[in-house]
Amino acid sequence: MDLTTKYLGLSLRSPLVPSASPLSEKTDNIRAMEQAGAAAVVFHSLFEEQIETSAPEFRVDPNTYLQNIAQAKRAVGIPIIGSLNCTTLGGWISYARRITEAGADALELNIYRIPTRPEVTGSTTESIYIETVRSIRAATKIPLAVKLSPYFSSFANMAISLDDLNVDGLVLFNRFYQPDIDLEKLEVTPNFTLSTPADMRLPLHWIGILYGKLRASLAATSGIYQAQDVIKLVMAGADVTMLCSALMRHGITHLQRIEMELIAWLEQHQRKSMAEIKGIMSQQNCPDPSAFERAQYVRGLSGYTSLFPMRR
Ligand SMILES: Cc1cc2nc3c(=O)[nH]c(=O)nc-3n(C[C@H](O)[C@H](O)[C@H](O)COP(=O)(O)O)c2cc1C
Repeated sequence: MDLTTKYLGLSLRSPLVPSASPLSEKTDNIRAMEQAGAAAVVFHSLFEEQIETSAPEFRVDPNTYLQNIAQAKRAVGIPIIGSLNCTTLGGWISYARRITEAGADALELNIYRIPTRPEVTGSTTESIYIETVRSIRAATKIPLAVKLSPYFSSFANMAISLDDLNVDGLVLFNRFYQPDIDLEKLEVTPNFTLSTPADMRLPLHWIGILYGKLRASLAATSGIYQAQDVIKLVMAGADVTMLCSALMRHGITHLQRIEMELIAWLEQHQRKSMAEIKGIMSQQNCPDPSAFERAQYVRGLSGYTSLFPMRR
């Protein structure tokens, strides 16, 4: 079965790519990912705050990160995608260059801004994204992916604007920090949970809408647990499907299981390759393009109330 795909101009054996997570901190894990069938690996992010912090327990030596990339490159044959999360333009440019020099095959920009000040407008925030990406694009020649949040007024417009800057891929979507409140201690606490399968719907929706409208590749991340999730996202138009929570929950060998199930599904449905199903259920190609639009929301709502009639 031909599962091959192209992502960021790289030829990959399948769409299965472990996304940025602590699993990639160990070269042994990266070897295990390759053995389990990973087509490429995204490194955990290098965070500028962790380089600059004065708190020793959080401090990260950027040289260690760069050496780990070089070591991973020597250890495996699959592409290694670096990941960067900076807070200053100088940081973005200098570490993008250093990750390039360390031998990464591509770089994912984990741009993570939470604009909390009410005087900062949406267009100011968008222009910071654009100017940041424009500068990094000029600083490195390796393929660039931008990992985004869905929280833009017009996500499709943002995607097109980044595509116009010659980025090679968009990764949809980053999961943003959502703190909780500890009712006993009366503290706002970081609440970091793994995703659930329902989280794949948001990338499914937007990848379906964007497929065919961009030059850049599309990567799906969030809530991908099984082969059917991969099939749905590829049908919506994803070039790769990234996994993190599923591997943290079920272990790295879960990749192997998904690959076997992918092959079985494609064979059962008389498909010869992954490429054959790419984008067939995108908005552009599906039988009812309005299924991606607001009109279906209203129809969906009425279906919901007939399924669960409220007692009056
Ligand atoms: C423990 C943990 C650490 C993560 N670290 C990073 C990171 O360093 N950089 C990044 O871009 N995303 C990071 N992510 C986000 C994942 O790469 C992924 O995009 C997200 O969890 C959604 O995918 P999933 O549903 O498969 O987990 C992390 C997620 C988890 C759960």
